[in-house]
Amino acid sequence: MERELRIKSIHNGTVIDHIRAGQALNVLKILRITGASKAVISVAMNVPSKNITSKDIVKIEDRELASDEVDKIALIAPNATINIIRGYEVIEKHKVQLPDEIEGIIKCANPNCISNTKEPVSPKFVLHEVDPLQFRCFYCDRILVGDFIDYVKT
Ligand code: CTP
Ligand code: ZN
Repeated sequence: MERELRIKSIHNGTVIDHIRAGQALNVLKILRITGASKAVISVAMNVPSKNITSKDIVKIEDRELASDEVDKIALIAPNATINIIRGYEVIEKHKVQLPDEIEGIIKCANPNCISNTKEPVSPKFVLHEVDPLQFRCFYCDRILVGDFIDYVKT
C-alpha cells in the first residue's frame, strides 16, 4: 500500500502513465500544452515503477485525447498507457500502439521528398523496425531513426 500519492487523483480526464522516463515534456509538446494553456495538468518525472526502470506520468483534467495525439505519443513512449478517468474511476485503460502505417503526423527528413514539396501529398510511413524504432517513408524510402519528437508535426 502506498503511503502517499505522489500526485493527486483526478476527477475527470486522462492519465498518461508508464511514459518512458524523460519523455513527459515531449508528451506535453505533442498535446500542445504550454504555459498559456488554462488546462489543469500534473506532471511527475522519474517516478519509481513496478518494473525496474522509472517512468513519467502526465495527468490532464477534463480532456480526452484525439487518436492522432495517441499515435504521436506511441512514437516517443511506446509503453505508455492511456487511462480515461470519470468520477475518479478508471473507466478505460489501453496501451498505446505503434501503427503499421502512419499518415500525416510525422514529416519526412528528406527535404527533396515529394511529401515536403508543394504537391498535395501528405507524408506516409511504414513501420520498419520496432526497437530501435524505425519508419520508412512510403514515397522516398528514407528511414527515420532516432528521436521521433524531431519528426512529429506539432
Ligand atoms: N489515476 C488518477 N486519478 C484517478 C484514478 C487513477 O490519477 N481518479 C491514476 C493512477 O494514479 C495511475 C493511473 O491513473 O497513475 C492508472 O490508475 P490505476 O489503473 O488505478 O493504477 P494501476 O493499477 O497501478 O495501473 P497499471 O496497472 O496500468 O500500472
Ligand atoms: Zn520521404
